[in-house]
Amino acid sequence: MIERSKEERRQRIIDALNEAREMELRAISQYMNQHYGLDDMDYGELAKNVKLIAIDEMRHAEMFAERIKELDGEPVAGFRERVHRGQKVDQMFAFDLALEDETVDKYNQFLLVCRENGDSTTMKLFETIIDEEQEHLNYFDDIRNHIKDLGDAYLARIAGTPASTGGYSKGFIGLGGGE
Ligand SMILES: [Fe+2]
Ligand SMILES: [Fe+2]
Repeated sequence: MIERSKEERRQRIIDALNEAREMELRAISQYMNQHYGLDDMDYGELAKNVKLIAIDEMRHAEMFAERIKELDGEPVAGFRERVHRGQKVDQMFAFDLALEDETVDKYNQFLLVCRENGDSTTMKLFETIIDEEQEHLNYFDDIRNHIKDLGDAYLARIAGTPASTGGYSKGFIGLGGGE
């Protein structure tokens, strides 16, 4: 194990958590923008699920912030990447799939940072959240494949489906992952 002071190790965990939080804040803004776009295009079911996934990302952003506070750090409040607007429906799901894939990869690297710096609590937090990102990834992958394989026939089936989440605020995972 590399020799680092306790303070230095703690700071590395806070940095990883803040980098993860920034990714969550970006995903929230991106998915919210898509939710409104899908709603406008009248793809209700897709709009609903993207909204629920944005709610999952909000929960993640808060979980990271709470852990940062426990470690006496200061959670970041913004993100640097730009939000992509006006995406076509096929672009959206390919984009989201790539975003979740990048997230899973990054969080696995942060997991190693936690291990290397001896923080099992934060490690468990990343493990839990990685599993949820994997479910988002699977969902986006399914939709992207449906659109790729069936195209307009699939989209015609989705058109006009309800966008309402029925007042649920539990998010996509809390509702059983799009079941
Ligand atoms: Fe997330
Ligand atoms: Fe996600």
